[in-house]
Amino acid sequence: MALGHLEPQYELLNGKKRYVQPIVHTMVLIGLTVLLVFVVILMFSVSWMKFDDSNNQNIPIDLVLYGPQKYTNSETASYRAHAFAIASKYSNKTSWTAKYKINLKNRINKAYNLACYYSIPTDNTSNTLQPDQINASLCTHLIVAFAQVRNNSVYFKSSLDTDVLRQVVKLREINPELKVLLSIVHFSNGSHTNEGFSDVVASKENLFKFVSNVESVVREFYLDGIDIDWEFPSWPLLNLEEKYGFAKLLESLRDQLPDSLLTAAVAAPLNIIDYSYEVYALASFVDFINIMSYDYHSYQWYFPLTGPNSPLFSSENESGYFRNLNINSSIQYWISKGMPKEKILLGMPTYGHSFKLINEANNGFGSPASGFGIGNSGFVTFSETCDFISHKKATTIFDHDTRTPYTYYEKDWISFDNENSLAYKAEFVASLGLGGAMVFSLNSDDYSGLSLCSSSVFPLTSRVKLVLNDDDL
Ligand SMILES: *[C@@H]1O[C@H](CO)[C@@H](O)[C@H](O)[C@H]1NC(C)=O
Ligand SMILES: *[C@@H]1O[C@H](CO)[C@@H](O)[C@H](O)[C@H]1NC(C)=O
Ligand SMILES: *[C@@H]1O[C@H](CO)[C@@H](O)[C@H](O)[C@H]1NC(C)=O
Ligand SMILES: *[C@@H]1O[C@H](CO)[C@@H](O)[C@H](O)[C@H]1NC(C)=O
Ligand SMILES: *[C@@H]1O[C@H](CO)[C@@H](O)[C@H](O)[C@H]1NC(C)=O
Ligand SMILES: *[C@@H]1O[C@H](CO)[C@@H](O)[C@H](O)[C@H]1NC(C)=O
Ligand SMILES: *[C@@H]1O[C@H](CO)[C@@H](O)[C@H](O)[C@H]1NC(C)=O
Repeated sequence: MALGHLEPQYELLNGKKRYVQPIVHTMVLIGLTVLLVFVVILMFSVSWMKFDDSNNQNIPIDLVLYGPQKYTNSETASYRAHAFAIASKYSNKTSWTAKYKINLKNRINKAYNLACYYSIPTDNTSNTLQPDQINASLCTHLIVAFAQVRNNSVYFKSSLDTDVLRQVVKLREINPELKVLLSIVHFSNGSHTNEGFSDVVASKENLFKFVSNVESVVREFYLDGIDIDWEFPSWPLLNLEEKYGFAKLLESLRDQLPDSLLTAAVAAPLNIIDYSYEVYALASFVDFINIMSYDYHSYQWYFPLTGPNSPLFSSENESGYFRNLNINSSIQYWISKGMPKEKILLGMPTYGHSFKLINEANNGFGSPASGFGIGNSGFVTFSETCDFISHKKATTIFDHDTRTPYTYYEKDWISFDNENSLAYKAEFVASLGLGGAMVFSLNSDDYSGLSLCSSSVFPLTSRVKLVLNDDDL
């Protein structure tokens, strides 16, 4: 019986099987190839349908492909005003062991820059920060945001904007040391258009016209300097004309305005830094760069998970691309590319980003979200977050990995910065010997000091200033 069983098996192995196998293989291969081609076509058409969704102008395609970046504009910027901060009071709820201690012995005694963005209010009546409410001694630099570029010239939306600019310049009568800059903003996508900086750098004539116009604006308004906020040259459709054009623009401005301050608001994500900047040009021509080290995470339909707006370090479980979505990685990268430390101002947000949770039991980082939470497009001022924390009995957690707080109540979830998280960031500035801090913006700090979280007016900006200037910390 045993032998009778074995024999046919040997026969199969030595004989028929050889001829059967290649046919089966070929058929399986053809089947798999057809399936693969089908899947690829399906994926392509589905993603194309999404990419081509031209009805929804709010979806930034560059974010789909390359990750987060700052995407504010002058409209949303005005909504960033009001206030927040009780989390410092709540931070003793959580205990932790410090894993990464900043080496305070590395702290360098020096005079730090504190450059504060001030968004021009859209009217002079309602609850927005007016120039006369700004403490002229709080910041070393005030950057008035924003003018735009039209027809290769500086463009102001209305006469209210120029009135406000003049009032801010007048604050120098109170503090003669104060420097006032005007920020010129433009958003582009890397394809050449006849507008904004993209057009300015397209020809020598345009560049000459723009630079001369900037000089006349500096003289007309008695400005100390100009801040260029181009988001972002050559991004995301790699366009070397824009990358080199941006370098040339800075060189021309420096030549035309040798005695004025020249600064640039620049990106934090590593891939945008590679696409957009000739770092030698920034290092050579600007007085400092304002790194927009925030908006690392905000609600996106294609990546609908909660995350910190402005994490100082990475979270334990982050890997790959996500591991570099934090301030430490951005700053170290800028330094490694040759940017002098003393020309780097670390961007500090006074606003937070809100999310609407899908399941309120899932409320840490990386929790699924269905959309923006409270605020305008998910932007929440410090006062708004403070009201949320104080009146809703929200739970507030200080995450030690990222050194940032978040707070939630039912399905509302907010990542924000408070005095504690900004103090960590300011210590980081000091321990690395950077040039100082940039604040975005005075409008979303609690400028009235009325929220339950605030011990003074501008509590967040004041805390940054205090830490930067406290050589005993
Ligand atoms: C924080 O600690 C102080 C005293 O150490 C205590 O009085 C206060 O209740 C604590 N706050 C919270 C929210 O636990
Ligand atoms: C507000 O602006 C309007 C013009 O836009 C002006 O008539 C009015 O005097 C201003 N009010 C204040 C308080 O500055
Ligand atoms: C303005 O800010 C300075 C520096 O932070 C502070 O010493 C001063 O008390 C502030 N003034 C007012 C009126 O808040
Ligand atoms: C742009 O500026 C040029 C002069 O440099 C002028 O002739 C032209 O009319 C302007 N175009 C617009 C649309 O303002
Ligand atoms: C880039 O922006 C311009 C104008 O803002 C627009 O016409 C063009 O379609 C955009 N290109 C892509 C690829 O998004
Ligand atoms: C990280 O992952 C480990 C293992 O999956 C898990 O136990 C831990 O809770 C995670 N930590 C965080 C902060 O998500
Ligand atoms: C900060 O970044 C540097 C360079 O990427 C890295 O070596 C270092 O471990 C990071 N520090 C922390 C605390 O993550």
